[in-house]
Amino acid sequence: MAKDKKTTIEKVHSAGSTSSLQAGSGQETPEEEVLFTSLRASVWDEFYGQKNVKQALNIAISAAKKRKEPIEHILLYGPPGLGKTTLSHLIAKEMNVNIRVTSGPAIERAGDLASILTNLEKGDILFIDEVHRLNKVVEETLYPAMEDYALDIIIGKGPSARTLRLDLPQFTIIGATTRIGLMSAPLRDRFGVIHRLAFYEPDELFEIIRKGALKLKTKIDKDSIAEIAARARGTPRIALKILKRIRDFAQVHSTGEITKDITDKALKMLDVDSVGLDNSDIRYLKAIIDKHGGGPVGVETLASTISEDTGTIEEVIEPYLLQIGFLKKAPRGRLATPAAYKHLGIDLPKSSKQQKLI
Ligand SMILES: Nc1ncnc2c1ncn2[C@@H]1O[C@H](COP(=O)(O)OP(=O)(O)O)[C@@H](O)[C@H]1O
Ligand SMILES: [Mg+2]
Repeated sequence: MAKDKKTTIEKVHSAGSTSSLQAGSGQETPEEEVLFTSLRASVWDEFYGQKNVKQALNIAISAAKKRKEPIEHILLYGPPGLGKTTLSHLIAKEMNVNIRVTSGPAIERAGDLASILTNLEKGDILFIDEVHRLNKVVEETLYPAMEDYALDIIIGKGPSARTLRLDLPQFTIIGATTRIGLMSAPLRDRFGVIHRLAFYEPDELFEIIRKGALKLKTKIDKDSIAEIAARARGTPRIALKILKRIRDFAQVHSTGEITKDITDKALKMLDVDSVGLDNSDIRYLKAIIDKHGGGPVGVETLASTISEDTGTIEEVIEPYLLQIGFLKKAPRGRLATPAAYKHLGIDLPKSSKQQKLI
């Protein structure tokens, strides 16, 4: 089944501008694509962290193998750069099956979906990135396909139209999304296994960076790895991007070896502060604090204040700020926390409305 790997990569489109180091949900530049393909964890044991998710998937994989059945449909969600795509490829590898790669916006018509599905072999995995962006018609075509491995095709028009049921090979869909809240309930419910990928701990990022440096054949000391891990927003993709930037810096300004001195100098040039916040994060927080009195302020208003789209704010900027306790979501909008004020060196206004809310 796995002999003829015919992985097809279709373009993934995504709205939203992101600053250079953020793990944007958008398409990577060709250079980055090569980087992440070469650094991509290629065996199960090289995928660090996400212990619970890996454990649960391991059980699902073993059980499916034992039953000689395809694995259940899997939905992976969480902020960009945490390993959803990588994990999907690793699941295919563990199951020893082909994986076909597509994305929600790339499947425009029900016919596109039909041609993908009818070309699958038994057990194959279809990876649908940005699965929340499937259009309604395609989504509805997918329901019977996921449930009964069947496609209902309408032939003809008007009174003579009839439905033809086409049997499909048993296959697995792995959906990935940064915005599970935008998925319809019927689609979500058709995934038997649903996992959220969480931000990584610094010691997990440490391993990922160490391994990345080995693959890049770059010498790096422990202090530098720890520094990068601290500034990577809990995100492997950002950790690897920073590593690569520092490697370039080391090659230009020194022998190519990454030392703490080189790391500190390079990080000064990069747009990341001591906790990994970059320009867009700072602009976002300052907008809440300076322009909206610390909040609460609605996401739409914030989006127009900093000329950023709400998708990028909700997918890329906010999850990490929430995670490190710089941001709170209240019913009436977003609030900057005292920790955010402290980090930015701004005095907390006495008896402000947000203090009562936090
Ligand atoms: N747990 C992990 N262990 C090792 N490398 C990882 C891990 N998670 C992500 N990476 C690396 O980070 C990069 C981005 O991961 P990716 O799977 O593209 O994230 P996502 O699909 O969630 O946006 C890849 O190079 C990948 O190999
Ligand atoms: Mg991905």
